[in-house]
Amino acid sequence: MKASITLTVDGRERSLTIDSRTTVLDALREHLDVTSVKKGCDHGQCGSCTVLLNGRRTLACLSLAVAHDGDEVVTADGLAPEGERHAMAQAFLDADAYQCGYCTPGQITSAVGMLGEVDNGHPSAAATDVAAPPRLDRAEIAERMSGNLCRCAAYANIVTAIENAHAAQDGALR
Ligand code: FES
Ligand code: FES
Repeated sequence: MKASITLTVDGRERSLTIDSRTTVLDALREHLDVTSVKKGCDHGQCGSCTVLLNGRRTLACLSLAVAHDGDEVVTADGLAPEGERHAMAQAFLDADAYQCGYCTPGQITSAVGMLGEVDNGHPSAAATDVAAPPRLDRAEIAERMSGNLCRCAAYANIVTAIENAHAAQDGALR
């Protein structure tokens, strides 16, 4: 069955007609040519396809596009719409937080979404006191980013990059 939907992708309204079984990931990559979002495992295990859906980080390979008609999608591309590097992307560069870079768009998008969750007081499994405001130490960052795998194992520098971005953050980070 076909469905016609509209998504706002990286600030631009896009209309498409797709099979109702199409995921957000395939809608982006195969129908809208948005290739900054990566397909790693295609079944929710690697985090490469992470996008912000209405501001919340979401695995695009596990989300049906028809369920998001009218929603806003932000990919790694959309984090710097004016062509300027996003502060999180700069932090990854400064900390040498990637090797092949395949997972990097998902890592950066996830990190930006994660900092929003921290700001909103969401606890993680690493929190020792779930009622207290989150303290974003390395264990917390590792736990909160555990859905994003890096086959090159650049994890130490990824945690450093996020730690540095968080320490330096101001309103421009999100
Ligand atoms: S491609 Fe979506 S989690 Fe791996
Ligand atoms: S930098 Fe290669 S998969 Fe992460």
